[in-house]
Amino acid sequence: MEIITSIPGMQRWSEARRLEKKTIAFVPTMGFLHEGHLSLVRAGKRHGDVVVVSIFVNPIQFNQQSDFALYPRNVEQDRRLLEEIATDVLFLPEAADMYPAGFQTTVEVDTVSRPLCGAFRPGHFRGVATVVAKLFNIVKPHVALFGEKDFQQCVVIKRMVKDLNFDLQILTMPTIREPDGLAMSSRNARLSPAERQSSLCLSRALQKAQALVSQGERRSAVILQVVRDEIAKEPQVRIEYASLSHPETLEEVAEVAGPTLLALAAWVGEVRLIDNCVLQ
Ligand code: PAJ
Repeated sequence: MEIITSIPGMQRWSEARRLEKKTIAFVPTMGFLHEGHLSLVRAGKRHGDVVVVSIFVNPIQFNQQSDFALYPRNVEQDRRLLEEIATDVLFLPEAADMYPAGFQTTVEVDTVSRPLCGAFRPGHFRGVATVVAKLFNIVKPHVALFGEKDFQQCVVIKRMVKDLNFDLQILTMPTIREPDGLAMSSRNARLSPAERQSSLCLSRALQKAQALVSQGERRSAVILQVVRDEIAKEPQVRIEYASLSHPETLEEVAEVAGPTLLALAAWVGEVRLIDNCVLQ
């Protein structure tokens, strides 16, 4: 596996692969890799001739300085995991190169960035769209892979690619969970054993909602009450939002008619977790 840290170095590598007619698959990450990230890399290997993974803890997408400071990092372990699954390139840019003095251009995806996490994390999706646009211009992929665990992020990136005519394909992949149902996340490492146990109420709430819909319930208010009640059983967990919305527009729906996104965010102690599913 090649490790590239310079931006022009990454651009030259990708240019050379393109001249060889190789298809480049790209998985952007913030590191502290787990099976959710690795599933994207494996999917990248199926969809491309070569796979590039980036690790960059993007300062401009954190709306809380403490969350950025406490974000878990272990590049040495990440490097080993990526090597084991035969990743072609690990791109590790420096913050000072990504955001040099004078940096002032950002990407704002309007409507779909507003609800859900956007309502509680001002500027978050501007930071995500901006860094992903930069990474696309640096890595020049044909295909980029994103996880549905961050469902709104997938919607925002797809919208940006369409609106700004990025010449690449976005593929989204299902959420990978721990055997007990907890959605894998780098932030899970910050949970105490008791908090880790309490946080299972999130995936349980999603399952209860799906069961209710399978039994014929359609009213959003009723489904969301069941979700809130399930989470309220855990005193350590403070719900931030629970919402039912259209999976493409992210507009809230009063009734479940067709596939509907059920998205949750909650604080478990000092850690903010999200989870979602598309109710069928
Ligand atoms: P990060 O949280 O490291 O996630 C990198 C990619 O892995 C994202 O596409 C995310 O949706 C996916 N992912 C995380 N947990 C997953 C899981 N349990 N199952 C499946 N996929 C999972 O998302 C980001 O980084 C950043 O916002 C980024 C896009 C890199 C921009 O900075």
